[in-house]
Amino acid sequence: MNQLVISGGKRLEGSMEVHGAKNSVLPILAAAVLSGSVSIIHNCPRLTDVEATLEILRHLGCRVQREGHTVIVDSSTLDRCDIPEGLMREMRSSVIFMGALLARTGEARVCMPGGCELGPRPIDLHLSALRRLGAEIREMGGSLRCRGRGLHGGEIALTIPSVGATENAMLAACGAEGLTVIYNAAREPEIWDLQQFLNACGGRVSGAGSSTVVIQGGRALHTGEHRVISDRICAATYLSAAACAGGEVELTGVPREQLLPVTEVFVQAGCRVRTEAERVWLRSEGALKSVSPVRTAPYPGFPTDAQPPVLAALCRAKGSSVFVETMFENRYRYTMELARMGAQIRVEGRVAVVTGVPCLSAAAVEAPDLRGGAALTVAALAAQGESRITGLRHIDRGYEDIAARLRELGAEVRRTTDSVSP
Ligand code: UD1
Repeated sequence: MNQLVISGGKRLEGSMEVHGAKNSVLPILAAAVLSGSVSIIHNCPRLTDVEATLEILRHLGCRVQREGHTVIVDSSTLDRCDIPEGLMREMRSSVIFMGALLARTGEARVCMPGGCELGPRPIDLHLSALRRLGAEIREMGGSLRCRGRGLHGGEIALTIPSVGATENAMLAACGAEGLTVIYNAAREPEIWDLQQFLNACGGRVSGAGSSTVVIQGGRALHTGEHRVISDRICAATYLSAAACAGGEVELTGVPREQLLPVTEVFVQAGCRVRTEAERVWLRSEGALKSVSPVRTAPYPGFPTDAQPPVLAALCRAKGSSVFVETMFENRYRYTMELARMGAQIRVEGRVAVVTGVPCLSAAAVEAPDLRGGAALTVAALAAQGESRITGLRHIDRGYEDIAARLRELGAEVRRTTDSVSP
């Protein structure tokens, strides 16, 4: 069994460039099918979710090549519009292929997507957005048959600013004749990144980053080259690790404003934080204070994906801190594992109250999902003794070689295939 073995209590020191954003690269790779041409995508992290997306592209008939962190997709050879259940279930973002395939081929045959078990994750907003553009979608059991020859532009008003539904609508709208306007669109930086890629391929998309995204569809797209933005959630995780274990780290490549809700928490907790345009520096003595309530919200609010690692960092803070999770119902499963390390956390529904303890102790724990795994890693780096974390298949979905990255910062971390000692 793969596990991370972490000897906690070492200060983290050093500088690190944050890798490309998982939540950007996945929709951008799906969007590569639109042009029927070559897309060159730089800064693609080596993550299992990225590899699964490349597998979907190959299944669809695309030619895919990786050279280091650059991926080249030639979608001129695409000859299918179905995605097998096994690949769909690998990750939630596979649902974005619906909009992309509809735009390219007028048809998509997929099934309900997988992803982290964070509670119910409906796709009703995706389906109604695609229907608004003229797609006919039949749901049979877990499978979805979408037809959309002759998609037309339209007005889409999302009732929730869903990231995935905004992306799906943007991709389908590129293949729809006329103008599409998405109201109450998600404003995440990853939406802006998708817009930049589409425009690099000759698309005409504007407004991403605001609540209204406008797409002039029906334009022939061409070869495009793009560099994926950095992963703000990875950055938040490494900042959490330094805040909790103590130390001084500098992260480069992430625009400071994308991290403001997270750095604000660490400033309140007593860390010293300095930011420049694309550089964040954090210094912590490891002795943190409790913070005012943290409530997750769509961008530019506090990101739900940063909630687990930041909460973990506050397990040793003096006093009590309150977290309110507004996006996903079941996002606190990792707190039961943190409790094995001595953390004191009370969860009631969507609220978690963390009461700091002077020290955490090492334990054998299992990552229940991707960001829950990040939280356990953060806590293990600060805990006394040797922790073992299993469930690495979750962590590998979103962190490129996390053990090596943490070693660069001076942590004592290794990845082994030993079985867990009883
Ligand atoms: C994306 C991110 C994920 C992040 C989340 C919120 C990717 C690959 N994943 O997920 O890491 O945690 O944004 O920032 O980019 N909803 C519905 N119906 C729908 C769609 C969503 O009710 O059809 C609800 C969800 O249950 C959730 C909220 O809307 O409560 C926001 O979800 P959404 O923004 O769609 O998240 P994802 O795109 O799945």
